[in-house]
Amino acid sequence: RYEKIWLAGALLLIVGFIATISYGAVGAGIEMVDDDGGQIEPNAISDHPKFSEPGTYKTGENEYDVYVVAYQFAFDPGTSDPIRVPANSEVTFHITSRDVVHGFEIVGTNANTMAIPGQVATITVEFGEPTEYGLLCHEYCGSAHHAMEGSIQVV
Ligand code: CUA
Repeated sequence: RYEKIWLAGALLLIVGFIATISYGAVGAGIEMVDDDGGQIEPNAISDHPKFSEPGTYKTGENEYDVYVVAYQFAFDPGTSDPIRVPANSEVTFHITSRDVVHGFEIVGTNANTMAIPGQVATITVEFGEPTEYGLLCHEYCGSAHHAMEGSIQVV
């Protein structure tokens, strides 16, 4: 009988942990680049107009979309050019990869997702005061994985 209570308690704890983890990002999800026929196209980047001009797009009052393409071994934008977003804004990142699976982690925050070829990961982040964040690939993606990084400037 007591075992059942313990078990229930343990389960509650686990559910609690999972809830805490998934609470972090305001909204996160993964969507297919193109939905016709359910086929995942590795080169679907070219079918998605915004990914041919990756960068920051204003979508509303203090709301922005940022399109990022990850590849071996950089983020575009992010690595050679920092991602720039205004302070006190809500930013939805749309992230894909043009080669292998990469990670996209905003260092020092709980914002992170995977960049998967043929798919678009979306993650919404609220930015406050002007500052700079580091950007990291947290999925092993090849010989220079450890050097795959970038930055986000909140200006
Ligand atoms: Cu890209 Cu690790």
